[in-house]
Amino acid sequence: MVNAARRILAPASMAKTSPARSSTQRSRPQRAVPAAGPDSGLLLAWYDRHRRRLPWRALAGEHPDPYAVWLSEVMLQQTTVTAVKPYFESFLARWPSVLELAAAPVAEIMTAWAGLGYYARARNLHRCAGVVASELGGRFPGTEEALRALPGIGPYTAAAIAAIAFGRSAVVVDGNVERVMARLFAVTTPLPKAKNKLRILAARLTPELRAGDYAQAVMDLGATICTPKSPACVICPWKDGCQGRKAGIAETLPRKAKKLEPPLRHGVAFWMMRADGCVALRRRPPKGLLGGMTEVPGSLWRPATPAPPRPIDEPPVKAKWRLLPGVVSHTFTHFRLELTVRTAALTPAQVRKLGADVIWTPLAAIGRAGLPSVMAKVATHAMRAMP
Ligand code: ADE
Repeated sequence: MVNAARRILAPASMAKTSPARSSTQRSRPQRAVPAAGPDSGLLLAWYDRHRRRLPWRALAGEHPDPYAVWLSEVMLQQTTVTAVKPYFESFLARWPSVLELAAAPVAEIMTAWAGLGYYARARNLHRCAGVVASELGGRFPGTEEALRALPGIGPYTAAAIAAIAFGRSAVVVDGNVERVMARLFAVTTPLPKAKNKLRILAARLTPELRAGDYAQAVMDLGATICTPKSPACVICPWKDGCQGRKAGIAETLPRKAKKLEPPLRHGVAFWMMRADGCVALRRRPPKGLLGGMTEVPGSLWRPATPAPPRPIDEPPVKAKWRLLPGVVSHTFTHFRLELTVRTAALTPAQVRKLGADVIWTPLAAIGRAGLPSVMAKVATHAMRAMP
């Protein structure tokens, strides 16, 4: 495995400032809660037998590589383990150290990130690598506070890196941890109101020693046993101390306040072909949603109501436009988007009128153009309709 070899061979410059204790050091974790409650030692013993093998995870006895831990934790923000794996492996193969990542052009990083979503993460990844390379001698800091000062590292990510890469007893709280705590302690207050309470409970359980293993153990428990639906309580290492299970309500926790339906926006995408079989793409402005990403040119995305003024749907050039049947739907964090797609084969004069900002891309290269998912859907929709 790329990363395993890499970690063993990691140069001294990448070593942690304060060594993370791994699972080979079976030191007894401090008991942070009364003996009758769930015990971090029970979970760690389970983790020693059942830990998942993940490409960014150090094997038992290996030193975690802070660069790999940071890269994976940024990728894992709002994204599943399954989706992250291939991206993590290709980033690590292409940019094996933070110095190499910092030296890469940001456009290459954006393109390599395409499809992973939340693109501000990719820009911040590059900015963070720049700071670590130029101001910190290529070493990540080992405390939550110093990590939080870096671009793109919020409270969760700082705690996760501090615990996993540097063995700090940081309280790592993500959705998995909230679910596990809500069940263990039968917290029926709905989220997000329960957040503070769940954090306090998580802090009580976090051990002084093996905090990185413990954080990953809770993640593994949440992903494999204490799952959102149909938790496998009978094989849970914490089943005897689980109040949610005792009360028969584990599966219903955590309760969640009803979310409002995200609002709907509409827009038009213009699929323009040149006679040589190239399609017109462009780069979005660096700031804002999908900032810096490649896109199919289109209108503004405006609320479905009230009805918009027509001119914003005007195509960028006068041509023989055809409206494709159907719509492309995509859900962003705060809104749903429906795009209609119009296509046109442009004459050389229309191509000239379109201007120099257009990135003419051969159809065969569209998969490597770094399109974000919504634009990949537009391309698929348009290409399906092509003769
Ligand atoms: N989700 C967020 N960070 C993770 C990690 N280090 N391992 C597994 N799942 C995670």
